[in-house]
Amino acid sequence: MTEPEQKLSLDVAAVAKKLATARCVAVVTGAGVSAESGIRTFRDTMEGLWKEFDAKKLATPEAFDADPATVSRWYDHRRLGCLAAEPNPGHLALAAIERNITSRGGEFHLFTQNVDRLHQRAMTSNVIELHGNIMEWRCTQTGELILLPPEAMTVYPAPSPFSSGSLLRPNVVWFGEALPEEALIRAYEVFPRADFVMTVGTSATVYPAAGLIELCDRLDATRVEVNKDATPASRHVDYSFRGASGDLLPRLVRAAWPPNG
Ligand code: OAD
Repeated sequence: MTEPEQKLSLDVAAVAKKLATARCVAVVTGAGVSAESGIRTFRDTMEGLWKEFDAKKLATPEAFDADPATVSRWYDHRRLGCLAAEPNPGHLALAAIERNITSRGGEFHLFTQNVDRLHQRAMTSNVIELHGNIMEWRCTQTGELILLPPEAMTVYPAPSPFSSGSLLRPNVVWFGEALPEEALIRAYEVFPRADFVMTVGTSATVYPAAGLIELCDRLDATRVEVNKDATPASRHVDYSFRGASGDLLPRLVRAAWPPNG
């Protein structure tokens, strides 16, 4: 076994020991956790969405006001991509962590920046969507939400059935918009008292999500990052695992709760 592999094994064992006895686990995830499901990230080298599309022209209220049809079409295309994707072993491992922690009377809170709802489809129950989700669309006049059928929207912009002629928009947080207040209140309540915090698959560049891991101020807490690349969060954690969440998270679960008990 090479030296890096030895260090990885030792770190996984140490983190697994802390995880297995944690009483309050808080996780924040980003696009990287869905990359192995075939959903594009935003800032990754070549294939990142923001490398190909201009966020200012597609992910802001001004962009929607200027060209609702193009923005609706782009989000609907992403919505159908998310529906066609499947949860990957990283999503499933996080759901397994939740089951193991809560079955022993602990708390598990998964805050996600992702809008794809793959954590929910992986059967994680306590998911807090910091940036909304792409499956629900809301009436711009009444705020009422609808889940669109699993086929492309036929009319851009789709008139809302709730009020004459008003537009539907994706129920996601755009740049310049506030995050859902309840999600933020929950994050600011949980992270400071969590005894195990983990950031997974995020470049830790978009606040306030990027700053959540720093809120953890318990001296006895374990802070972990699982990410393909180093990020600004890397210096705020005790263990920074470099690699695919679909590999590392299942390995962590197996080490914390060995299948044969
Ligand atoms: P980014 O694309 O900024 O970062 C994804 C991170 O995941 C990168 O640091 C990659 O190294 C890492 N990564 C990629 N594949 C991975 C894998 N298989 N396993 C582990 N890590 C992997 O995406 P986010 O950090 O989620 O906001 O971006 C945050 C927000 O910026 C998004 O919610 C979105 C975006 O603009 C809005 O649209 C409002």
